[in-house]
Amino acid sequence: MSYKSLKGFRDLLPEETGKWLWMERIIRDLMRRYCFGELRLPFVESTELFARGIGEGTDIVGKEMYTFLDRSDPPLSIALRPEMTAGAARAYVQHSIAQQQPITKWYYVGPAFRYEQPQAGRYRQFYQFGVELINSDRPEAEAEVIGIGNDLLSELGLSNYTLLINSLGMPSERAEFREGLIDFLRQRSDRLSEDSRRRMEENPLRVLDSKEESDIQATQDAPSILDFLGDESREHFKRVQELLGAAKVKYEIAPHLVRGLDYYTRTVFEFVGGDLGAQNTLIGGGRYDNLIEEVGGKPAPAIGFGCGLDRLILSIEAAGSGPTTEPSIDAYIVALDDQARRWAVGAATLLRCSGANIEFDLLGRSMKAQMREANRKGARNAIIVGANELAENIAQVKNMATNQQQGVPFEGLQEYIFPER
Ligand code: HAM
Repeated sequence: MSYKSLKGFRDLLPEETGKWLWMERIIRDLMRRYCFGELRLPFVESTELFARGIGEGTDIVGKEMYTFLDRSDPPLSIALRPEMTAGAARAYVQHSIAQQQPITKWYYVGPAFRYEQPQAGRYRQFYQFGVELINSDRPEAEAEVIGIGNDLLSELGLSNYTLLINSLGMPSERAEFREGLIDFLRQRSDRLSEDSRRRMEENPLRVLDSKEESDIQATQDAPSILDFLGDESREHFKRVQELLGAAKVKYEIAPHLVRGLDYYTRTVFEFVGGDLGAQNTLIGGGRYDNLIEEVGGKPAPAIGFGCGLDRLILSIEAAGSGPTTEPSIDAYIVALDDQARRWAVGAATLLRCSGANIEFDLLGRSMKAQMREANRKGARNAIIVGANELAENIAQVKNMATNQQQGVPFEGLQEYIFPER
């Protein structure tokens, strides 16, 4: 019997995780500069929280959640998190954060789960970096959150992307638009894809977001939600644009951008990557002024985004950016007999404690094979020790690049191999 990982679930091997660690370091460093604190949420929550927060009618809740009953009596319906905003809102309310600080700036990095058809850039377990800025209704909050997305992409060495922004208004404005849109779609239903015809009455906004060519053509002259905004929402959206301009963040207004989660109000945005295929949304987010109240808290306006890390990696590869240096091995200890192997165990520990990257042979190989391995691993030095070296307390250290070899007293090895410390 041989086992394979499940469809849509991947192993990330060390050859790949080097890139991930590099990316995550940049993310954490950026979050330090923006003064956001890291939130670590459970991977499962009650199904009810997601249904309530994200919306029963969304694809995520309706079709894509991993939901199951646990073993409690009576059983509780729980779900693997398909995203982290609902959990963050729950945590904000549960820990009475509103009473402790006027504004909350949280970020998270971790896996999320959706039962989607896997393809390049779309997986059933994927990784998100996200930020949530809670308790500001000001357009400056948009500038801050969108600014993070923009800075992140550029610090990762990406330039081939576009920021799309739109306003979905407040629920009452959206309800009016929805009616107008349904009328428009009904008139063109024969030109719509089957999926969109099905969605049209229940979730007409999603039809605008369809990637099907026939839908794109049929909805080109659909009414724009921007025409349905009241004064306050219009003013807010205008100010958001001014602030993005002040921050020198380039954007395009996309009146058809609707996003797939129900909690959004007013500003929504996506960073779309030019190097990816169909799954090209790198970052998606928006304002969600009613969610905190929806999950049981006092009203607190908020805004955030989720960024698909798997897609960032694909973009980084396409752009040829990424970490430039592999973590190098400072020295490979080549031990010639059992006495020397014993010495190697102690010496490796000491050198590693001083900060050096040290490898030594774990297979009892010959000197020649150990030297070959040191070479293959790209070690900067080989520390060669046999009976003579042990008798004299002097190791032979070979610089693998120049092939020069010299005797180094044991007590001077740390300084010689790893002078940084
Ligand atoms: P979302 O648009 O559903 O929003 O997901 C955000 C990002 O996660 C997407 O733009 C994409 O990069 C990535 N993503 C989603 N599904 C997959 C998948 N199956 N495979 C690979 N990557 C995927 C949210 O999740 C919201 N919680 C964002 C948010 C935070 N809004 C406000 N705060």
